[in-house]
Amino acid sequence: MSGAHVTDTAIAWDTYSRQRPERRPVNAFGEETWFNWTQYADHGPGVELLEVQPGARVLDLGCGKGGNAAHLATLGVIAVGVDVSPCQLAAAQERWGWVPGLEFHQTEAVAFLREDQQGFDAVYSVYGAAWFTDPALLLPAIREQLRPGGRLVFSQRPPVPGCYGCQASYIPRGADEDPLVVKRWDYEPDAWEQLLKEYGFTDVDATVLAAPPGNRTVGTFVVRARA
Ligand SMILES: C[S@@+](CC[C@H](N)C(=O)[O-])C[C@H]1O[C@@H](n2cnc3c(N)ncnc32)[C@H](O)[C@@H]1O
Repeated sequence: MSGAHVTDTAIAWDTYSRQRPERRPVNAFGEETWFNWTQYADHGPGVELLEVQPGARVLDLGCGKGGNAAHLATLGVIAVGVDVSPCQLAAAQERWGWVPGLEFHQTEAVAFLREDQQGFDAVYSVYGAAWFTDPALLLPAIREQLRPGGRLVFSQRPPVPGCYGCQASYIPRGADEDPLVVKRWDYEPDAWEQLLKEYGFTDVDATVLAAPPGNRTVGTFVVRARA
């Protein structure tokens, strides 16, 4: 059979990683580390969404090049980043490996959650594994590891109206090459609320944060829940 097929995830995300620029050395406020939930620079809320204090153990699912986890570690949080892509993690390790309280694991999100038995005070994902993993597998695994009262927060692009459930996400390659394909899961806010409640989460809030002023109109979908 010809046509597009779902690609091995590590291969697909390594390809993505090679195309992505490094995070800037400093942001618009002159900070060397920062947290960004959105696809826009210097925009949106910060770590306060996680409701954690220094000493908390926090998990980043699909941490990519590690900038958000590194910022948390500079605040005294024990930040654990997991990512399936060796390229992403090599970049994370090279730039942030020196930061105390920060650890990276090259592994798949659900596999990690099932193996690690220490628990987390918060779990988050920024356009990460929470978007690219079947929620029927991921949500119960997170619920098991999230300590009582702990926050689950994830951000992703809002769903395209009418396109719900498992969708194909394309990772472009060269002009003469077919794109690679990974799966992602898109739902409307009501559906996320229902799913999260089904898996034992409470205090669910799913809202779209508006894009910054300018030409871009697509906002950021931010979903928050509590164990
Ligand atoms: C769009 S990137 C976002 C990376 C990072 N969170 C950021 O904000 O720059 C998605 C990341 O999720 C990772 N990823 C996707 N599915 C995953 C899974 N099932 N387990 C672990 N990592 C995953 C990819 O390797 C990739 O680094």
